[in-house]
Amino acid sequence: MASYPLSHLILLLLPVFAFYFNHITAKHAHTTTSIHHHHHKNNHLKAKSNNRLEQAYIALQAWKRVIYSDPFNFTSNWNGLSVCNYTGIYCTQHPNDTTTQVVAGVDLNHGDMAGFLPNELGLLTDLALLHLNSNRFCGILPKTMSNLTQLFELDISNNRFVGPFPYVLLSLPSLKYLDIRFNEFEGILPPQLFNKNLDAIFLNNNRFTSVIPSNLGTSTASVVVFANNRLGGCLPPSIAKFANTLEELLLINTSITGCLPTEVGFLYKLKVLDVSFNQIVGSIPYSIAGLAHLELLNLGHNMMSGIVPEGICVLPSLNNFTFSYNFFCEEEGICTNLTSKGIVFDDRRNCLPEKPFQRSKRECDAVEKQPVDCFEHICGIKSNTTSAVTFHHIPLPSTSPP
Ligand SMILES: *[C@@H]1O[C@H](CO)[C@@H](O)[C@H](O)[C@H]1NC(C)=O
Ligand SMILES: *[C@@H]1O[C@H](CO)[C@@H](O)[C@H](O)[C@H]1NC(C)=O
Ligand SMILES: *[C@@H]1O[C@H](CO)[C@@H](O)[C@H](O)[C@H]1NC(C)=O
Ligand SMILES: *[C@@H]1O[C@H](CO)[C@@H](O)[C@H](O)[C@H]1NC(C)=O
Ligand SMILES: *[C@@H]1O[C@H](CO)[C@@H](O)[C@H](O)[C@H]1NC(C)=O
Ligand SMILES: *[C@@H]1O[C@H](CO)[C@@H](O)[C@H](O)[C@H]1NC(C)=O
Ligand SMILES: *[C@@H]1O[C@H](CO)[C@@H](O)[C@H](O)[C@H]1NC(C)=O
Ligand SMILES: *[C@@H]1O[C@H](CO)[C@@H](O)[C@H](O)[C@H]1NC(C)=O
Repeated sequence: MASYPLSHLILLLLPVFAFYFNHITAKHAHTTTSIHHHHHKNNHLKAKSNNRLEQAYIALQAWKRVIYSDPFNFTSNWNGLSVCNYTGIYCTQHPNDTTTQVVAGVDLNHGDMAGFLPNELGLLTDLALLHLNSNRFCGILPKTMSNLTQLFELDISNNRFVGPFPYVLLSLPSLKYLDIRFNEFEGILPPQLFNKNLDAIFLNNNRFTSVIPSNLGTSTASVVVFANNRLGGCLPPSIAKFANTLEELLLINTSITGCLPTEVGFLYKLKVLDVSFNQIVGSIPYSIAGLAHLELLNLGHNMMSGIVPEGICVLPSLNNFTFSYNFFCEEEGICTNLTSKGIVFDDRRNCLPEKPFQRSKRECDAVEKQPVDCFEHICGIKSNTTSAVTFHHIPLPSTSPP
């Protein structure tokens, strides 16, 4: 799950990596330049540096002091003013002044380091890339990070950060790639997150609890992963506004209720739609049959019912269609033989009379008696009927997957 959209990410990151690889040789250029400036200064070490690198030196030394475990010795060579030689620290030329070296990248991925992020991190004002994936950093992100106006890519995934959503990130004007998954952030998702010009948003495996903000559709991201949070609420119809950019939407196990809005089918660029392990009710919106690029559709482990429409089974790019653990009672046309279309599928534990591994008649009858009218349950609009509540009470079967 965590590595799921990797192929996409590599594409996304290529421009950044190209930027760094082109500049990585600048390290050697730096040494030459430094020697050149040597006679201007008395202090040997300072001569090799510049004000920006000195600020970085202060920041990195402060950071090193609050790193309490470093099993792979990433920071053991973090000594002296030559910060560009530190493990995990990447320098490049300042874009507007090619004679000045600056710290543009910090990559401590998989360091297994424990500690926290000091306020002095705000001195790394030239940072474009901050990768701290798979460490044991804890606490909160310092507010001084608002100084990181060049920060383009932030990956603090798989750490132990806590507290509310790190609002400081919303103030970063250059941020495009936001990955805070696998931490312990909690509370509401700020609507401002979706007003930012981000390309990728990974929030999965935290403790966020609010409903999905209704301005979700104002985002410009191509990948949004909310999975494994307790968001609750339903998917707002305003998601339709997301159509021009969204390619992957992963809402796995986010406590989502209600019907899937017809507007999901307006997301014409969508390749991956995974809403599995929720409490979604009602029928499949026929509009999904319009998603010409859809490759993976996972509706599994919900409480959906009705017909599996043929329009979905004939989608040209579809290669994996999971709708197991629902209450579907009929497959239309070729949907009964997805093997013949070369589509990987899972239709177990539904109410499909002709198929093996289905639910009991008793379970199916209980749902059939309480049909859900999705026109009455439009997300964000209160229905005056009581039926809006009844679907929470359908008992979920206790059987586990074989
Ligand atoms: C890190 O350094 C310590 C002390 O110098 C050494 O004992 C240990 O083996 C080193 N660890 C790694 C992973 O290199
Ligand atoms: C930086 O590292 C390189 C190679 O590891 C070394 O040749 C160079 O002297 C170092 N520079 C400084 C200033 O320590
Ligand atoms: C470089 O200069 C341009 C134009 O003045 C400015 O917009 C940009 O932020 C500068 N870049 C950096 C890294 O300071
Ligand atoms: C922000 O960066 C500037 C240098 O550009 C520095 O002087 C200032 O101290 C930094 N602020 C914080 C809070 O780190
Ligand atoms: C769903 O997420 C919760 C945490 O929000 C987690 O405890 C649970 O194991 C997850 N369930 C599945 C099926 O992944
Ligand atoms: C199909 O999708 C399901 C659910 O997303 C996944 O568990 C399964 O591994 C996929 N199968 C193949 C062959 O890609
Ligand atoms: C599904 O289609 C294939 C070939 O298209 C056929 O061989 C097979 O018998 C069909 N299965 C069923 C259950 O109709
Ligand atoms: C409540 O819903 C019914 C239809 O289900 C409608 O006829 C009625 O006017 C609604 N009442 C209000 C106050 O909206």
